[in-house]
Amino acid sequence: MLKETLEQGQHVIDQALEKLLPPATQRPESIHQAMRHSVFAGGKRLRPILCMEAARMVSGKLPPGIEELGSALEMLHTYSLIHDDLPALDNDELRRGKPTCHVVFGEALAIMAGDALQTQAYEVLARLKCPAEARVRIIEEIARGTGTVDGMIGGQVKDLEAERQKPDAATLEYIHRSKTGALITASLVTGGIYAGGSHAEIQRLRDFGRSVGLAFQIVDDVLDVTQSSEQLGKTAGKDTASEKATYPALFGIEESLNRADALVISGCNSLDSFGQRAETLKDLAHFLVQRKK
Ligand code: IPE
Ligand code: IPE
Ligand code: MG
Ligand code: MG
Ligand code: MG
Repeated sequence: MLKETLEQGQHVIDQALEKLLPPATQRPESIHQAMRHSVFAGGKRLRPILCMEAARMVSGKLPPGIEELGSALEMLHTYSLIHDDLPALDNDELRRGKPTCHVVFGEALAIMAGDALQTQAYEVLARLKCPAEARVRIIEEIARGTGTVDGMIGGQVKDLEAERQKPDAATLEYIHRSKTGALITASLVTGGIYAGGSHAEIQRLRDFGRSVGLAFQIVDDVLDVTQSSEQLGKTAGKDTASEKATYPALFGIEESLNRADALVISGCNSLDSFGQRAETLKDLAHFLVQRKK
């Protein structure tokens, strides 16, 4: 069942992305090739899947056009990965099992491919097939989640500044909630908004996202030290090598995993009032901490 949700979700999103991104033959070809290289390198598509399942939970079915919202989220996530890998940030050469965007296309194009995916995402969002009021709320939510105030860019800035500093637990939590948790939360919340959820329902999705989003980055830190580069499709041991602020560095692997488990349990409790309809999202939350890549 969960396997089906993941495979189906990936398929739907891959197809939508194919349609929504300019073809590689579109002038200027180089930038479209660079965008497509990173988008189609083989991501798990977890943010779009969380978005779609949040929508399904709220309205009882997948609302038409939701895959376009999911695709915009994946474009933004991929932009964040391209920039995260740049020499000026994490300086990584492997991503999603392939050489990183700047390794293949050079730094200038990689910077612009990230920018372009962001721009493309907002064009897609502006055209979402939902009432205008919901569309505007979705755009605001996503802009905030990827922005500088408790959002993705803010977290990435602190992440870089925290290298070699060994920050305290509160700062580390801020970094993880911002750089990763905020976009995951926005994915769930905007799925709920797209499906016409009430304010109370959106709030429950937000609480769930806050917990699960932090757990997701804790597990990312753990996998960095427990898995091989081959398994991850990205350079293992990278955080330790660059003296990053991570959960295992501060708490050890076991305590980090305990914290991730506890976050998933409390996150799932936030969805209890949805009853049976919350089962898929709860299964996904457990999958996020048990994943091996
Ligand atoms: C990796 O995200 C970057 C983080 C925010 C931890 P994912 O683990 O979702 O990567 P892909 O999309 O599957 O490549
Ligand atoms: C990345 O965190 C968070 C982003 C916003 C991209 P990491 O730097 O730990 O992600 P990986 O391990 O390179 O995927
Ligand atoms: Mg990073
Ligand atoms: Mg990185
Ligand atoms: Mg990492």
